[in-house]
Amino acid sequence: MELGSGLGGGLILGIETSCDETAAAVVRRGTEILSNTVASQIAVHLPYGGVVPELASREHLRNILPVVRESLEAAGVGYGEIDAIAVTEGPGLAGALLVGISFAKSLAFALGKPLIAVNHLEGHIHAVLLDVLRTPSETVPRELEPRGQTLALVVSGGHTHLYLAELADTGTWKYRNVGRTVDDAAGEAFDKVAKLLGLGYPGGPWIDALAPHGNPEAVPFTFSQIKAKAHRKGEPGALDPAEEIYFSFSGIKTAMLRYTKVYEMEASIDARRAALAGIENPKAADVLALCDRRTLDLIASFQRSVVDDLRRKTFRAAERFGAERVIVSGGVAANRELRVRFTAEAAERHLTIAFPSIALSTDNAAMIAAAAWPKFVAGQFAAEGLTAEPGLALGR
Ligand code: KG4
Ligand code: ZN
Repeated sequence: MELGSGLGGGLILGIETSCDETAAAVVRRGTEILSNTVASQIAVHLPYGGVVPELASREHLRNILPVVRESLEAAGVGYGEIDAIAVTEGPGLAGALLVGISFAKSLAFALGKPLIAVNHLEGHIHAVLLDVLRTPSETVPRELEPRGQTLALVVSGGHTHLYLAELADTGTWKYRNVGRTVDDAAGEAFDKVAKLLGLGYPGGPWIDALAPHGNPEAVPFTFSQIKAKAHRKGEPGALDPAEEIYFSFSGIKTAMLRYTKVYEMEASIDARRAALAGIENPKAADVLALCDRRTLDLIASFQRSVVDDLRRKTFRAAERFGAERVIVSGGVAANRELRVRFTAEAAERHLTIAFPSIALSTDNAAMIAAAAWPKFVAGQFAAEGLTAEPGLALGR
């Protein structure tokens, strides 16, 4: 096939180290994944029940070179064949981001290839667009372009955001942040609640596995209405605060804690925690055997409440902003009940809905390489002084 136009073979090496996964991937033209390597640090952080930033940086340092090598090998691509290197610039842990950025910068310099900075949140959105836009051509043919507005819910351990995404004339994407959490991220709530109930880390997959065994209507949780923040009013380009959608997950966490105290569940939680600590690589069946009816009902009710809150607000935003399609990405998008309930509501409303494959839902570098492709085509390269941006926002 004729490649031409200075884009070479369109091979982008993506590097992602924003949190607790050291990841590298080779993606051709933003759509064809040749390799997607992820070294998870779960085992390292497990004893602490959450990510320890210093340990994360140390592990990234240890893993970055082997992960990049493995990724190139799996793709059957040599360093010389790479056309550009893409790296996550933020948001994330400063030290963790710096490992990826320093490595990517050195490699780009040594190979004489361009470096592209990618926002991690844009990466999550592209984990879905990667599938939607799967096409062998150099630029997306017009009939395949996702015209109109796409509403993207990015829901992970660190983020709960709603974005309106639109393809600009330059071929790159522009985003408008129309919803956000005022406190915890949804994934954080899953993780904290799992910890509270003596389950493993990260908590989302355990709650996902246990919830179908309980009654989701057993414990009614309510979400309070969040008022618009006055300080956002009048900011240039800011959304009318009355239009913005707010999430809050700290209340349900407190309600769960209170429930365990009222029903005196502490002793059984401690017993479960101790029993699980004694099982190497516990499976869902092991954990299920350690949960009584009340605990399973509580877990099912928690998951139902969070999923329904996300669903209601996402579709309210889709309606408010006239979106034609909804995409959901980030670690929590792996949740099975979330997928079922979002899919049902989208069908009722005749909206298209898309999720990434499970492997692309959680942090990976294929999504970073995919998000970099339109920037590569548009010649948007990283500044020489590129550095970690732990609080980087997406869009306006
Ligand atoms: O996107 P991700 O890998 O990292 C961040 O950018 O935060 O998301 C990790 C988060 C964790 O909070 C984890 O508990 C949650 O995603 N998660 C899930 C599921 N799988 C992962 N939450 C609910 N259900 C799941 N199946
Ligand atoms: Zn993420």
